[in-house]
Amino acid sequence: MEERNPVYEERLDRHRDELKWLYMELYDSEEDYERLLAAMEDMYVRRKEALREQDRARRAEPDWYRGSDRLGMMMSAGQFAKTLKGVEEHLDYICSCGVNYLHLMPLMESPKGRSDDGYAVSDFRKVQPELGTAEDLERLADRCRLQGISLCLDFVMNHTSEEHEWARRARAGEKEYQDRYLFYDSWEVPMQFERALPQELPATAPGNFTWIPDLGKHVMTTFYPYQWDLNYRNPAVFRDMMMNFLFLANLGADVIRIDTVPCIWKEPGTACRSLPQVHSIVRMMRMIGEIVCPGVLLLGETGTEPAKAASYFGTPEKPECHMISNATGMATVWHTVATQDTRLLRKQLDAAYRLPRTYTFLNYLRCHDDISWGLDYEALAQWGMEQAPHKRFLNRFFTGNWPDSFSRGELYNNDPITRDARFCGTTASMCGVEKAGYCGDDSGMVQAIRLDLMLHAFLLFQPGIPVIYSGDEVGQVNDYTYKEDPDKMMDSRNIHRGAFQWRLTDNIAKEGTVQNQLFLGLRQLERIRQSHGAFGAGARAETLDSGDPSLLCIRRAGGREEILGIFNFSQTVKILDWTVGGVNLVTGASVTEERRLVLRPYDFVWLDMGDGAAG
Ligand code: GLC
Repeated sequence: MEERNPVYEERLDRHRDELKWLYMELYDSEEDYERLLAAMEDMYVRRKEALREQDRARRAEPDWYRGSDRLGMMMSAGQFAKTLKGVEEHLDYICSCGVNYLHLMPLMESPKGRSDDGYAVSDFRKVQPELGTAEDLERLADRCRLQGISLCLDFVMNHTSEEHEWARRARAGEKEYQDRYLFYDSWEVPMQFERALPQELPATAPGNFTWIPDLGKHVMTTFYPYQWDLNYRNPAVFRDMMMNFLFLANLGADVIRIDTVPCIWKEPGTACRSLPQVHSIVRMMRMIGEIVCPGVLLLGETGTEPAKAASYFGTPEKPECHMISNATGMATVWHTVATQDTRLLRKQLDAAYRLPRTYTFLNYLRCHDDISWGLDYEALAQWGMEQAPHKRFLNRFFTGNWPDSFSRGELYNNDPITRDARFCGTTASMCGVEKAGYCGDDSGMVQAIRLDLMLHAFLLFQPGIPVIYSGDEVGQVNDYTYKEDPDKMMDSRNIHRGAFQWRLTDNIAKEGTVQNQLFLGLRQLERIRQSHGAFGAGARAETLDSGDPSLLCIRRAGGREEILGIFNFSQTVKILDWTVGGVNLVTGASVTEERRLVLRPYDFVWLDMGDGAAG
């Protein structure tokens, strides 16, 4: 046998016992374990030198991704620049936004019309032909690496498309491939599952199983009927999917987003969310990554609030994900906008700020998904906001069907039975840019831009990594053209997934335009965040009682640096006469001299309170 590379050997040795122990617990097969190890080594051998070198550098500096200079952007490559080559050609624009972390939505082959925008993968090794080839993706990753941009790619691990080779062979009757999914001959087991399972898509794809008439069987489909859930009890599924993950890593992905991670293990009679085996799998995935490609990070999409999602970080000795996306943060911010009441947001921030500072969350105002209003309804009930009517209020407010609402957007998965619904729209449309533009309402536009900037200022003030949704930097509004596309019309999330409007970028340099104000305003905030010590990854964060529920007040402190962020979530002017000193980091004005602080509707201040600021 060829001698092993000592670097690989050392990494394998470090994890060998734990990996084997966890593996045996789930799969109990020496033979399959040996096969997994051989496949991993093969992937290591194929990893190119530039990536190995990067792995070494990152291992020497494990916090490499956690600096306050990290700024993310999420986009669909196709909607942004048509192809991967197009994205490559526009990397300069991405850099000009200050972005150094780029999340591209799924790129791998996915059947047109039954693709869930790429989240139904029919080939984990082949790029969607409209976007380009695996070579294009590799070249884009190389270019990103040279420009200091970390590339995040989706890994849709829970399911495959019904067109994936495994699914086609399963449909053709091959038992070996049927075992890669969850097939049942009768309703008995599916019914047992259904009794405890939530509904992911109650209106567009009700139920969690799909009847496959050619086989006379039910197959588990948590999401759309064409997304067949994988069976991770099968060691071949685990092995092959781990190799698909390493394939993306070897193309040059820096971050792997584990799509809908809590769902990957199923057990009848449970909600099939975050079962202990999910953690075993993620832990093994982490170890596999650390052995083959230690420079690659795992990002978990958990759909829950930070405190509940924290279990996906694992423990310091047995870490799982490096980063977790904060979906609840998005919902809570918009709830705060509609209610002008920061109490829930403050409660959630307090809980998040109590977590270890090494936990890295990705925060965002909007992303490719809907806003599902997964709020803390127990807390809200104490303040008189009951779940069902409150969700209805939020949806009416944001669809513009509420007195004085400035928002525009559409419902998603409006459940005909529970009347529960989620919401879709872009940040700019939800802030009022669309309505004010349409009505030619200048003062409405001033307010919309101020709200938009204040929300981004709040986002950038948080510990963790802020991620901007492509188009938000130029205030792109909802796109209704999806209604004319038969492949898209059934999914209202397409309203905020419109093609990037390049013409808007021409306005960035034109003073007074929406784009000029938003883009430059954001850039200024990003620069302050990057350079000020109180934004560092190790800096503390805490909320303060402002005495007014519509004003959110956050303090961040690191070393001798200290800053205060005050965010006015109300439509009224607020005058603060606390005896706070400090310098307004945006305007440069000294608050000590003014002795009071005036916050216009939806205004904010970032105050420098540290050494030297007061003088
Ligand atoms: C995740 C994605 C979402 C997709 C779903 C099914 O939640 O964010 O867009 O529809 O998984 O893959």
